[in-house]
Amino acid sequence: MDLKIAGKNALVLGSTRGIGNACAKVLAEEGCRLTVCGRSADTVEKARRDLSGSGHDGIVVDLSDRTSVKALVMAIESGDLLVDILVNNTGGPPLQKIVETSLEDWETNVRSMLYPIFEITSAALRGMTERRWGRIITIVSSGVIQPIVGLGISNALRSSIVGWSKTLSEEVAPSGITVNCVIPGRIRTQRVQQVDEVRAEALGVSLEEMCQHSVAAIPMGRYGEPEEIASAVGFLASGLSSYMTGSMIRVDGGSIRSL
Ligand SMILES: NC(=O)c1ccc[n+]([C@@H]2O[C@H](COP(=O)([O-])OP(=O)(O)OC[C@H]3O[C@@H](n4cnc5c(N)ncnc54)[C@H](OP(=O)(O)O)[C@@H]3O)[C@@H](O)[C@H]2O)c1
Repeated sequence: MDLKIAGKNALVLGSTRGIGNACAKVLAEEGCRLTVCGRSADTVEKARRDLSGSGHDGIVVDLSDRTSVKALVMAIESGDLLVDILVNNTGGPPLQKIVETSLEDWETNVRSMLYPIFEITSAALRGMTERRWGRIITIVSSGVIQPIVGLGISNALRSSIVGWSKTLSEEVAPSGITVNCVIPGRIRTQRVQQVDEVRAEALGVSLEEMCQHSVAAIPMGRYGEPEEIASAVGFLASGLSSYMTGSMIRVDGGSIRSL
């Protein structure tokens, strides 16, 4: 199927591995010109080289660092970096109880998970509005519908991203820009491995037992693959989803029990 996005410029944040990397690969396969990002020059360059097609770029950006984010914003605002498709994907917050979360912890995570998304999106919107075409896709979490125990920071901050995304979708709809969220369930990545390790240690069980316990709660009986999130992102980025905006798409193997 032709997704009708060949030649579009796509920026995928947090794209050196896991979900972001799979999204970058899908968009490159569809003929987009990618800009991949991460915190180290080596991993960014490797991610760039692994993409199919040519003309891709890589930028070292630490989303928790104000100066680093500002440099990316300036590249977009100056027109050096064109963005037709923006995939907002950040690193995940720590596994931590809300009762053990200090004001400093909240601030740290707001600065790395919320502000960069708001700021980078605002910068990208200018060009999208001029070109009267744009796609903003933000990776959140199943915790925005069914809060996940121990992931209070994620549950709280990502719920505010959903509110931001929905509100923005209405503001920019007349300019031909769609704004949507993708909700991953448990996807087999380094992040989920780390979360399972922390939980296994806390419960005094093996990693294998922890994974079996997690999988038992998923109707499909397995973790998802990053490529399964990327397929949804590819569709939302495409010309085929032109009438979809303000939505949240679940890709969770059925694990969220609510309607
Ligand atoms: N996997 C799941 O099941 C799942 C479920 C729900 C939600 N999510 C969320 O989806 C997002 C991606 O998940 P994932 O599993 O793919 O995570 P991951 O495997 O840890 O990958 C995270 C990506 O973000 C980059 N990154 C991390 N911190 C960064 C920072 N400060 N600045 C710039 N880039 C940064 C990493 O690159 P470098 O290390 O090279 O900088 C990497 O490319 C996370 O926010 C996660 O919480 C994941």
